[in-house]
Formats: sequence, C-alpha cells, structure tokens
Amino acid sequence: MRSWKVLIGRSAVGVAALAIAALVLSQTAEGQKTKGKTRPATTKHLMSGICFPNCGSLGKLLKDGPADDKGWTTAARNAALLNELSYILMDDGRCPDKDWANAAKTLRGCSAKVAEAVAAKDLDAARGAFKKMTEACSACHKAHKS
Ligand code: HEC
Repeated sequence: MRSWKVLIGRSAVGVAALAIAALVLSQTAEGQKTKGKTRPATTKHLMSGICFPNCGSLGKLLKDGPADDKGWTTAARNAALLNELSYILMDDGRCPDKDWANAAKTLRGCSAKVAEAVAAKDLDAARGAFKKMTEACSACHKAHKS
C-alpha cells in the first residue's frame, strides 16, 4: 500500500497544492514584515512616524547634550517611544523571524537604558546606550529592509 504522501507527491493536484501552500507561506512572511495581521499601521508608518523622528531627535540631543530641562524631557520622550516601538514591532503577528526578534530585543533593552540614563541626566551612559540601540536598526534593516 502506498502512503498518502507518495500519492499526493505523484499527482498534479498534489503538486499544485504544494505550490499554493508555498505561495501562501511566503506571502504570510512578507505580510508580517511590511504590516501586522489586523491593525492598519504598516511597518513604513511605524518607521517614518515613530522610529525615525524619535531616533533623529534623540541623536541630535545627545550629540551636544540637552541644553535645558525641556531638552531632557524631549530626550526622555524619544527614548520611551522607541521603547514602546520595540513592543509594537513584536505585536500583531509582525515578527517574521529571529533576526527581527533579536533586533526588537536590542531596541527594547538599549532604549530602556537610554531612558534610565536620561532620567539621571547621565549623558555618557545615554550616548553609549544610544549607540548600541542603533545597531538594532542596521541589524533588522540588513535582514529585512529591501
Ligand atoms: C525589527 C526590525 C526593524 C528595526 C529594529 C528597525 N527597523 Fe526601520 N525598517 C524596518 C523594515 C522592515 C523597513 C522597511 C519597511 C517597508 O519598506 O515596508 C524599515 C524602514 C525604515 C525606514 C524607511 C521608512 C520609509 O518611509 O520608507 C526608516 C527611516 C527606518 N526604518 C528607520 C529606522 C531606525 C532609525 C531604526 C532604529 C532606531 C529602525 N528603523 C529600526 C525594520 C526595522
């Protein structure tokens, strides 16, 4: 008696079914990195609306050091929102693989350290954690940004 695998493997229907399954799988993975499963925000929205402005502002503030309390408040908000983003990036079935998950984890840990250093007005520590945080951007982009 032949197994069902052999039967399916030899039939045109089986080949077509496998091709469709492969297509669905690849589209799911693609869908996960450009958009979550249910919410409207695309990864582009998150990157251009949350990631880029907060990372840019934070980088500028830490370069020379915030000039006043308002600057420190802004830096704290930037770090906190980047930290939130690390959770959003893992939500809604968005994460396609380990590279993504590791980058989100780095973003989360380092942005939390920046936030902590900013709260203590420790500029050196904030700069160090910020530099490490940006390694998450390049790691994820290298694997997933075309
Ligand atoms: C976990 C993965 C991941 C991390 C971490 C990440 N990005 Fe992205 N980013 C992407 C992906 C995927 C795209 C491409 C989205 C697309 O084109 O659909 C992207 C695109 C972008 C874009 C282009 C947006 C546009 O409008 O085309 C910018 C800018 C950006 N990222 C900035 C950053 C910065 C700055 C960081 C670090 C603070 C960062 N990203 C961290 C995954 C990530």
